[in-house]
Amino acid sequence: MTPSLLHRILDHANRADPYPLYEELRRTPVHHEDDGPYVISTYYEIRGLLHDPRISSDTRTPASHTADPLPEAPQGEGALPPGFLKLDPPEHDRLRRMTNRPFGPPHSPRRIDGMRPELHDIVTGLIDGIGDPGRIDLVEQFSYPFPVTVICRLLGVPREDEARFHVWADTLAASLDPDPDADPGERGKDAHDARMQLGMYLAGLIEERRRNPGEDMLSQLATAEGEDGPMTTMELLSTAALLLIAGHETTVNLITNGMLTLLRNPDVLRRLRAEPRLAVPVVEELLRFEPPVQLLPQRVTLADIDVRGVTVPKGSGLWLVLASGNRDPERFADPDRFDPDRPDIQHLGLGSGIHSCFGAPLARLEAQFALSELARRLENPRLLQDPPPYRQNAVLRGPRQLHIGCDGIRP
Ligand code: HEM
Repeated sequence: MTPSLLHRILDHANRADPYPLYEELRRTPVHHEDDGPYVISTYYEIRGLLHDPRISSDTRTPASHTADPLPEAPQGEGALPPGFLKLDPPEHDRLRRMTNRPFGPPHSPRRIDGMRPELHDIVTGLIDGIGDPGRIDLVEQFSYPFPVTVICRLLGVPREDEARFHVWADTLAASLDPDPDADPGERGKDAHDARMQLGMYLAGLIEERRRNPGEDMLSQLATAEGEDGPMTTMELLSTAALLLIAGHETTVNLITNGMLTLLRNPDVLRRLRAEPRLAVPVVEELLRFEPPVQLLPQRVTLADIDVRGVTVPKGSGLWLVLASGNRDPERFADPDRFDPDRPDIQHLGLGSGIHSCFGAPLARLEAQFALSELARRLENPRLLQDPPPYRQNAVLRGPRQLHIGCDGIRP
């Protein structure tokens, strides 16, 4: 039997270049396979659904018409409640508002911008620390440690504990991947265990910050008394876990995909070296062209909804394929071309609507710093393997390693 289109998209063999499969998918903008989710692949339909209050992100909402492709961690003893990514209004809005107080405008307008000197120092330290310039694994030596160090500093999580939560973060990221070959029971249990251990680890830290508050976000969240009142301990734990994981598993892929794309487009790389401000449109075009979050597989319809003439029944699972919408020729001219000079790059790479990426200002700044400094300092960089090996995950897609070489490191 020929594997279905969805199976081919999830098949690791197609991870290096899923874009021809997305093109095939867009021929049926509302694609439904037996007992599976409704898969939406065109730009305007995805955007419309992301703004539609009849769509739920709450994974506790039963998807009655479809077999839920994702194993949900059992909500047993000690399990953390879902973070606001997986909640609907009004709970979502309240928690997002409270989390934003110590993070961004209007209450904390300097938090992210104030990190510029720190970001610069971390990037400089990592590039200075590259040993043999002839053989660099960009993921291990740069793209992973950079955002992890940043999110740890922002939250006030000791960087030395990274080896412990790295494993939990990986397990939780894997649980987002609708891998058809994985055993859902096993994965659900692993995710549950990882969440519990992460919860216990963070509970210890929060306790300590309550006694001894610092300038970090965890201290501020733990001691906040805004108009929404304080967060409960469970809310605080699930919010901290969400920020730690979200700040971990996405920016690494943006930076790695970014360098890979620049090395495949040497003219843009040359321009970026001469003109660091080009990093702003380069990063936006990357979020369109190679988005680290390829699809959102966890929405459920709360009513019968008409999508481009097809009725999606109430209770259906929905997959919104952001990476496909970003290459929709009805929205972007010549969509398979990487072109940071596009006059308008309103991509879906950071989502849209009420759940649009909370960490967007930080993610953008990190990627801009990383790519402009790599472009400036690596002398004559080249890819040693193209395509690179990819991780299994089809949702959080990115290279497992990116081997590059260069002639030297400029000061
Ligand atoms: C390049 C890096 C990143 C990408 C591509 C990315 C992408 C996304 C996307 C597509 C969503 C929407 C999810 C949905 O609608 O279900 C999202 C939500 C979110 N992101 Fe990011 N993200 C990135 C970095 C970060 C960072 C660094 C943080 C933390 C500081 C973060 C925190 C969050 C949170 C908390 C949400 C949930 C927002 C909500 O439900 O209201 N992200 N992100």
